[in-house]
Amino acid sequence: MKGWVVVVVGVLGGSCSSAPVSPDAAVFDAPPPLPALPEPKAVETEQFASSTYCAQCHLRGDGGSTAMSDAAGDDVSPIKMWRGSMMALAARDPFYLAVFEKEIAENPAEQEEIEALCTRCHAPAGSIASEREEPKISFHELTAGTSDNAAIGRDGITCSFCHQIRDRNLGLDSSFSGGFSVDFARKMYGPHANPDPDPMEMFIRYTPVYSEHIQSSALCATCHTVILTGLRGQEVVEQAPYLEWQNSSFNLEEDGSLGTSCQGCHMPRTNADGTPIETAIAKYPEGLIRRGRYSRHTLIGGNNFMLRLMAAYSDWVGSNIADEELLANAGRSEEHLRKAASVEVVEASVQADEATVDVRIDNLTGHKLPTGYPTRRAWLHVTVRNLAGDLVFESGGYDADGRITGLAQSDLAATAHSNEITTGQVQIYEQVLVDAEGTPTLRALDVDAVAKDNRILPKGWSETHEQIGRIRPVGVEGDSDFAAGTDTVRYRFPTAGNTQLEVEAELLYQSVPPAAIDATANFRTAASERFVEMATQVDNRPIAIAETTRLF
Ligand code: HEC
Ligand code: HEC
Ligand code: HEC
Ligand code: HEC
Ligand code: HEC
Repeated sequence: MKGWVVVVVGVLGGSCSSAPVSPDAAVFDAPPPLPALPEPKAVETEQFASSTYCAQCHLRGDGGSTAMSDAAGDDVSPIKMWRGSMMALAARDPFYLAVFEKEIAENPAEQEEIEALCTRCHAPAGSIASEREEPKISFHELTAGTSDNAAIGRDGITCSFCHQIRDRNLGLDSSFSGGFSVDFARKMYGPHANPDPDPMEMFIRYTPVYSEHIQSSALCATCHTVILTGLRGQEVVEQAPYLEWQNSSFNLEEDGSLGTSCQGCHMPRTNADGTPIETAIAKYPEGLIRRGRYSRHTLIGGNNFMLRLMAAYSDWVGSNIADEELLANAGRSEEHLRKAASVEVVEASVQADEATVDVRIDNLTGHKLPTGYPTRRAWLHVTVRNLAGDLVFESGGYDADGRITGLAQSDLAATAHSNEITTGQVQIYEQVLVDAEGTPTLRALDVDAVAKDNRILPKGWSETHEQIGRIRPVGVEGDSDFAAGTDTVRYRFPTAGNTQLEVEAELLYQSVPPAAIDATANFRTAASERFVEMATQVDNRPIAIAETTRLF
């Protein structure tokens, strides 16, 4: 790997920029930004085949076939849906690459272990093959290499990987944190009974096989449960949507049709308008039977920021997905976020020269809100005006860069969870991971503890669930209405002589806050230089999940 020399140029004094310059940023010359990633290459390995092979039969395209179409005639084929999703692009994600490279820079002696770890869930097909083969899928291979393992690694959570995950230990601890099992039997598990095996066997030597486990949430849990081991040997839970879902009313799978799995919301069996899809599931051979319970591989979450970044820098990302497709997915992500919660002003009154407004949030997702990667945050933006339209009170406003404004003290003090918010404070729902010094960190290998976790609980949450030790909220003590599925926040502020007021409350969402981009800027690695260069050009204002207004 081509190295670079870190040049110490001395701390610059007297910066006149308004943004504070961290000492780290000034001390080191940055390496040149990471070059564009290689374009896709069709490869077949002992275990896997690139998605381009599957596309021959599982992409509808424009060839006139009606297979994998919905009632409106739109292309809902697996390839079309998946290829512009964050799961398909997981190995080309510049934020991921920036943190990955920083971990290596900080722990050069453990480079190989870090490379195995960080590729396991983001580039799984390349990662597990290289456990036995050379060259290993290093950071350099993944971002610049031409080996088969690198090429299939860059295919992200590729079709032939996910569909070969076996029904082994699913839902158990040993399957979490990348503990999936894939073998050499070349069986492609799917949800439909009696698939016609011949075309796949002839063309790509895989056998499609019906298996129920592909529809279980525990399949997703293999990567969507990220449990780290801290330096003191302690468990630190970085991501746990599956454990959160287990402790919710959506987890009723055993009862049959009740409950909703991860797939139920993230791979919907209906169109956006609610109509079920019934169609042939491959375009070759022609004339296959139409199957019901067909699902769309949308795999959409809340990370519309990254999808928009990838659309703006598609040449660098190199995935050959049209910008319009990425933007369409960013739009789907916004629609998806609009299903995440409802917001209501349940009480609002003026008493003498003070007003109080109670805002209630209901979580409609199958896990905490927000869930997933710890940079995700949701916050309440509450604005109160008098009848002339003058601003009387605001909490949770933001500037053009998406930074929260109007905080009275340091972020951490003014954004601690509270049942009552007043001037200078903001209610931010988030999980904050800190290092041994108590400083928030993005680096998994540096995490010591969870300093805050007031993310809104899903419906059906129980304080006595068997996984509660891993997913218990942190810092919400004393807030009795922070409960299963909901939280209510009281805003208290001076009325400045007004007797009639109007309140607007909105719940906002941001996947990669400016502070996370600032922190990455201090990494000073090739990948971080590239990521920050791109990220600072993308609109990072939050997305509104839900809003409401009330006169009082
Ligand atoms: C056990 C599986 C797993 C492993 C191992 C893993 N990740 Fe991830 N990572 C995920 C999942 C799942 C997400 C997406 C969650 C979401 O979108 O909320 C993610 C998201 C991320 C993101 C946020 C990306 C974005 O666009 O916002 C970064 C950064 C990241 N991972 C870095 C790393 C690094 C660095 C390593 C190695 C230290 C690593 N990951 C190892 C599963 C994993
Ligand atoms: C995250 C894992 C995952 C990935 C990646 C994935 N699939 Fe699927 N696929 C599933 C699941 C789960 C189902 C069943 C969904 C259900 O019935 O709820 C499914 C269903 C299918 C079906 C049956 C048709 C249907 O929707 O009912 C086909 C064919 C298929 N996938 C092909 C593909 C191809 C081709 C790719 C690559 C573009 C791909 N899958 C990527 C998990 C995945
Ligand atoms: C030559 C055409 C062809 C290619 C290439 C192909 N498939 Fe298939 N696939 C089919 C056919 C045909 C079926 C069965 C359709 C049926 O019986 O309704 C099928 C079924 C499936 C199923 C559903 C199995 C079930 O029981 O639900 C999955 C999953 C699947 N394929 C995944 C893949 C993946 C992943 C790839 C790429 C590695 C791929 N296929 C490549 C033609 C193909
Ligand atoms: C092999 C590991 C793996 C498996 C299995 C897996 N995922 Fe993921 N998933 C990831 C990674 C890695 C990311 C994040 C990529 C990134 O942000 O860089 C991700 C991201 C996501 C996102 C966030 C997308 C966004 O736009 O914000 C959703 C939703 C998701 N996965 C759902 C699922 C579901 C549902 C399943 C099961 C059917 C599943 N995943 C199985 C690794 C996996
Ligand atoms: C009732 C519907 C529902 C169910 C069930 C559900 N989710 Fe979600 N999920 C959502 C919504 C809505 C969002 C967007 C809001 C958010 O980020 O929390 C989301 C977001 C996500 C994200 C993305 C967070 C990000 O960083 O962008 C991941 C990852 C995810 N879900 C994984 C899962 C997994 C894994 C399961 C099953 C264990 C699951 N979800 C079950 C509705 C659901």
